Amino acid sequence: MNIILIGFMGSGKSSVGHLLADKMGMRYLDCDELISNTEKMPISAIFAKKGEEYFRKVETEVIKTLQDYDNFVVSTGGGMVLREENVKMLKEIGRLVLLWAEPKVIFDRIHNQSHRPLLNVPDPMAAIEKILNERRPIYDTVADFKVDASNLKIEETAEKIIQWIKSK
Ligand code: S3P
Repeated sequence: MNIILIGFMGSGKSSVGHLLADKMGMRYLDCDELISNTEKMPISAIFAKKGEEYFRKVETEVIKTLQDYDNFVVSTGGGMVLREENVKMLKEIGRLVLLWAEPKVIFDRIHNQSHRPLLNVPDPMAAIEKILNERRPIYDTVADFKVDASNLKIEETAEKIIQWIKSK
């Protein structure tokens, strides 16, 4: 069984994912890192040179390669669950855990970073609110478990996920 972390940019998937993997004795895999390595360029360059649609295709290709993975904590890009076929494949290999964070929290975390093309815009707060609003119903529907990580420390978020896994 794998634990698949889903959720918006800046919701803490990477930091929680690393800690969770450590605590559970699982391995950690970051889909964006895999994509960057395969494409030999950062995500922002893929968006700039090849476009978002191309990136989305590569995301799906990457998920296809994970079908034999076991005992991994997998961190996905914030848009990974937008495609139904991705969700279907992810559900076949693990449980989907949503890390939720309020827009203001996300803004505070990401506003001085520049590696996220969708938020590298003149008004990132407006972009966060807009995209989050569009995606919220999808995140809510596909998640097997949700943690509102807005006011939690990384440790606390990881602990909530561990308690949920143990209760299964
Ligand atoms: C995206 C999220 C990013 C990355 C890409 C697109 C999105 O990953 O996959 O920039 O559509 O939400 P993080 O959620 O890890 O920042």
